[in-house]
Amino acid sequence: MALAISLRGGDPSRVATPLLAVGLHSGGVFPRVLAPLDKAYGGALSRAVRQADFKGNRDESLLVVGTGPGPARVLLVGLGESEDTYGAVTRAATLAGRKGNALGVRKMAFWAPQLSGDTVEAAAFGLSRGAWEFSDYKTQPPAKDRPRPLAEAVVIAADARGSQASLAAGVALGEGQHLARRLQQLPGNVCTPEYLARTARDIGKRHRLRVTVFGRRDLKRLKMESFLAVAAGTPQDPKLIVVEYRGGRRGAAPIALVGKGLCFDSGGISIKPAQGMEMMKYDMSGAAGVLGAIEAIARMKLRVNVVGLIGSTTNMPSGTAMNPGDVVTASNGKTIEILNTDAEGRLVLADVLAYSARFKPAAIIDAATLTGACVIALGNSATGVMTNDESLQSEVLAAATRGGEPGWPLPMWDDYREMIKGDIADIKNIGGRGAGTITAALFLREFVPAGVPWVHLDIAGTAYSEADLVVIPKGPTGVPVRTFVEFVRGRAR
Ligand code: BES
Ligand code: MN
Ligand code: ZN
Repeated sequence: MALAISLRGGDPSRVATPLLAVGLHSGGVFPRVLAPLDKAYGGALSRAVRQADFKGNRDESLLVVGTGPGPARVLLVGLGESEDTYGAVTRAATLAGRKGNALGVRKMAFWAPQLSGDTVEAAAFGLSRGAWEFSDYKTQPPAKDRPRPLAEAVVIAADARGSQASLAAGVALGEGQHLARRLQQLPGNVCTPEYLARTARDIGKRHRLRVTVFGRRDLKRLKMESFLAVAAGTPQDPKLIVVEYRGGRRGAAPIALVGKGLCFDSGGISIKPAQGMEMMKYDMSGAAGVLGAIEAIARMKLRVNVVGLIGSTTNMPSGTAMNPGDVVTASNGKTIEILNTDAEGRLVLADVLAYSARFKPAAIIDAATLTGACVIALGNSATGVMTNDESLQSEVLAAATRGGEPGWPLPMWDDYREMIKGDIADIKNIGGRGAGTITAALFLREFVPAGVPWVHLDIAGTAYSEADLVVIPKGPTGVPVRTFVEFVRGRAR
């Protein structure tokens, strides 16, 4: 169930709530406006700050239980010392939402200094993100022992009246990211290409968007031999999913958001080791990002045209699967030598990128869990960002930062292009041992429609977390929903 978030003004000490989260900066100063709350708590809150039991650092929290009327509990959460207030509030509110959900309170409130406009958006998004959980497959304990899910949150703002639109934006971002994380977390036997297509249709119905789904027979007609090669080993119908959001001027060139939607990547005949193979259900995270972004964009009614394009299948070994050494012709006429069937994402995206040409996009951003090499290069803290247009790349990097999903550029020099020159065809689907993330991107570049600025996001390290971190639990992160939305927002009228 979605978290219902509302706004109110006034003194936080007067809010009767089972839990009030209070964001405080580091620096040891207890804000004077909280004096009534501190008084209701017998001075315990200011004392915690004075004694440095709570320092206000990023990701820090301290729970204090009250005795009187007003909030039954206060959770102090650190805002740190960052100058990026939007990011700091997002993070603190996420931690607050997560703790609130874990405590088993049905309602909570959130306060931080001077919340208005953008920072109200940050608070709402953070609370929503923090409260996210996935328990579809856990047998529930008897109702009387069941922790109550967090259902309602109140943001206490300095400017509650003027921040309604910001609240709605924060909620939209939260819902978009939830949608993506849920799709990511669903197992491969449930979240199939067909399931992604149904989800796209459902989003389309709710927001009146045009959704087109192509299956194997259509892909044949479209001469997408590269995409079809990946789908050759699976009995499931591969899907090319197109979602058109038209919030901008009629005829204005859309932004194309492209996602890799491998619902499971076994590696195919070049099969992966068993250890960790289950993580390859997350190989549809780019697709989840596209759908989550479109959900948020449609909720926000952004005045811009966006087309989402998803290539979805599974990569399986079988008697009908593609083999190393096979040569295929992609829909743009280029011939590809398939030397490793585990480099399948680029084969799928090749035809999807080529297909995007018919929308005459103003810009293309693709997101894909494309290379293990990207995890080696950047770990789990940054998305690899590559491009054919450095000014678009700067724009996307800024959007990524704003959305709290940092990216980092990697070079696309000609030297690297040599590594994927084909022996008997135009291009090979793997380079050498080095620079695997870059050679994958250079492969994709061959299929980007001529003259269209394009950015590639390698989210292999950022789409899911194998560690249970303070703010983001183990599992799907929803990256790159925020990056996509912040970029599109920046382009909206
Ligand atoms: N989906 C994987 C990349 C991946 C690896 C994502 C680890 C997340 C975590 C991709 O299809 C793949 O298998 N890439 C190969 C490419 C290689 C064969 C050139 C890889 O990274 O090993
Ligand atoms: Mn693979
Ligand atoms: Zn893959």
